Amino acid sequence: MNSSQKASRSRGHSTRSKAAKNPQERTIPQWLHSAIFYEVYPQSFFDTNADGIGDLNGVIFKLDYIKSLGCTAVWLNPCWESPFGDAGYDVSDFRKVAPRYGTNADLKRLFKEAHRRGLKVCLDLVAGHTSTEHAWFKASASAKPNKYSNWYVWTDNVWADPGENLKAVSGYSDRDGNYVTNFFHFQPALNYGFANPDPNKPWQLPVNHPDVLEVREEMKNIIRYWLDAGADGFRVDMAASLVKNDPDFRETMAFWSEVRGMFDSEYPEAVLIAEWSDPALSIKAGFHMDFLLHYGNPAYTSLLRQEKSRDIFGLTPEGGRSFFDQNGGGDIRVFLNIYLEKYHATRDIGFISIPTGNHDISRLAIDRTPAEIEVVFAFLLTMPGIPYLYYGDEIGMAYVQGLESKEGGYGRTGSRTPMQWDSGKNAGFSRATPNKLYLPIDPDKNRPTVAAQEKDENSLLNAFRRLAQLRLDTPALQGNGDFEPVVAESESSAFVYLRKNAGSRILVAVNPSNKTCRIPLPEKIALSKAKTLHSRGAKISLPHTLTLNAASYGIFEL
Ligand code: NOJ
Repeated sequence: MNSSQKASRSRGHSTRSKAAKNPQERTIPQWLHSAIFYEVYPQSFFDTNADGIGDLNGVIFKLDYIKSLGCTAVWLNPCWESPFGDAGYDVSDFRKVAPRYGTNADLKRLFKEAHRRGLKVCLDLVAGHTSTEHAWFKASASAKPNKYSNWYVWTDNVWADPGENLKAVSGYSDRDGNYVTNFFHFQPALNYGFANPDPNKPWQLPVNHPDVLEVREEMKNIIRYWLDAGADGFRVDMAASLVKNDPDFRETMAFWSEVRGMFDSEYPEAVLIAEWSDPALSIKAGFHMDFLLHYGNPAYTSLLRQEKSRDIFGLTPEGGRSFFDQNGGGDIRVFLNIYLEKYHATRDIGFISIPTGNHDISRLAIDRTPAEIEVVFAFLLTMPGIPYLYYGDEIGMAYVQGLESKEGGYGRTGSRTPMQWDSGKNAGFSRATPNKLYLPIDPDKNRPTVAAQEKDENSLLNAFRRLAQLRLDTPALQGNGDFEPVVAESESSAFVYLRKNAGSRILVAVNPSNKTCRIPLPEKIALSKAKTLHSRGAKISLPHTLTLNAASYGIFEL
């Protein structure tokens, strides 16, 4: 991008020339309010060169499809050079597209083609660690001191326990020290410093150490590199993990505020998406949005262990049932108590995102019928914040059981199988011989496909499209419209809420259970003039009652 293009990009709707420190004063790009994201796992999406692995040209080829869903933005999982020990979350070159996906030119073309269609593209930024194959780490592991020695967190001898709940690898090279890892053993932690360095452990560098500052500057330059190339933002992997021994996240938040300042002044139309799962903290820190996956519980691994988990929304009381469970018994208030607290803390300064699923958790379709999934879609697409659709969830792709782990997937592998486009070879994903595929296609003969569902007016795919379109057409249903629970009781299998914006009032009712329920509404909800915008088995009985069939929902304009 030349400097005049860059200047015009920066002149978007919401220019503000200075880094704003107060969250209330930060810039929120206008496009975000109505955004619906689609998560693309590139290796499993669409393979155009018949090597069995999806590629960037494949994503470009399918942009019209993504747009047809009503999605307005793409989150692309890691696509940079990597040995793929953790499916690309182990980056070995932050400025180079992995050859299996294509070239930097292909990625730039993806940005361009997406923009031509009014779509945004956000990349996945693994800010906290690299692969052990990264040139920085190789230099850092050398016994001979060099520019990169302090770029990673190393203890000062191999017998030292790093403490502070840090995990370390010992005896890796001739360097007399242990390196700290953020996730798997080959993902060494970049050195963002220690918030409270222990004076008895001089290897714990303070956050303002010159080498730490260099790492931080380099990460900002990587961000600039891709934003200048045309990216629209980043989902930041493990965003809370950067600064060590930072129990209240003060220093980690300070770093992200600095990055947000850079966004607001240099790239006001670009966005930062946190994988933090505590929007009250991450949005204050500077993120535009954060996922609400495990409700502020940073124990990410405990979520991964739930291989067959149904409670992707955390709507399950300990060991109990999910709210979105046809057998009922889940308590919507478990969700609401946490959600409302985060919602009020972040209202007007950022967005909470509840995804249909992602590459780390089980599929939405596990044990759910299409009708039940549709109720979940109705909920997600009428809630405040920004919805995320995980590729394939729109057709109800299954969690494929019993797969061998691939690229560090373990229990997550079953959620990462190739997209099912049609009934042709390899479900239309690739022309490669089946044994070459990145992962096998779901072997179920009745597996859903896009092609079949395109033809069926009542398919899940078309239901998603209708609901997404309704959201796009209805400002009250979008990111920052008001939200007010109306009926949310532990004994009830239904949840009813209001969305409001500039005089428009929308009532939403969902009943995920397999029982019909009649819900008397408070008198202040006048149904006499209600117009049904969308309904599947939901009926109004005047003056104040809703009848909700099993697995039903209704969206009414009041
Ligand atoms: C979170 C990512 O979503 C996951 O896939 C990855 O394994 C870890 N972070 C480590 O980077």
